[in-house]
Amino acid sequence: MTTFVSLQMISIGSLLVFNAFISTSANGNSSHNCLSAADVKKKGERFEKKFAEELIFTKILRTATRNCSEAAAEMREALHQRSLSPWMYIEDRDDDRFPHVISFAKCLCEGCIINKQENFSYNSVLVYAQLPVMEKTKCDGYSDRYKVKQGFINVPVACTCVVPNYTK
Ligand SMILES: *[C@@H]1O[C@H](CO)[C@@H](O)[C@H](O)[C@H]1NC(C)=O
Ligand SMILES: *[C@@H]1O[C@H](CO)[C@@H](O)[C@H](O)[C@H]1NC(C)=O
Ligand SMILES: *[C@@H]1O[C@H](CO)[C@@H](O)[C@H](O)[C@H]1NC(C)=O
Repeated sequence: MTTFVSLQMISIGSLLVFNAFISTSANGNSSHNCLSAADVKKKGERFEKKFAEELIFTKILRTATRNCSEAAAEMREALHQRSLSPWMYIEDRDDDRFPHVISFAKCLCEGCIINKQENFSYNSVLVYAQLPVMEKTKCDGYSDRYKVKQGFINVPVACTCVVPNYTK
């Protein structure tokens, strides 16, 4: 019996769950924290500048769509192409979030590439990093005023090759 766990495909939507939120509302009167779109934009730009180093992953360009067998045949150049668990990047866009665009890694193989072919004795799995983001939401009772919150999201940044978890 082959015992490999399936590639841990996690839907993009489920990743956008904020944890460890730092509330920007200190005095309880939330309308104090309602900003104009222009102020939100300024704040967002300052935020991205402040966390430029942490947000370096978001700057990765989108890569060509490939599949596992194509990756197995090539295995050269960039790290994501030479990995035994090759991956590509897909663009995740959310205009209510700073940064608007984040590159998400997506594993190309279920197994790993050993001797130029996919070997299901191993598994490709996603590796996550927590990235700081700022998110805007509409203020109650206003059509053009926004609250902003800072937090972290888990972003898949690479794939790695592991032995299956037989205890599962
Ligand atoms: C909350 O802030 C708004 C706008 O500054 C003000 O008009 C309102 O009176 C405040 N409400 C309370 C309960 O302090
Ligand atoms: C991978 O892509 C190539 C080129 O598009 C295609 O010929 C091949 O059938 C694909 N293989 C799989 C397993 O989807
Ligand atoms: C896959 O890897 C296993 C464990 O290293 C090895 O025994 C097996 O021969 C490999 N399969 C192929 C098709 O290379």
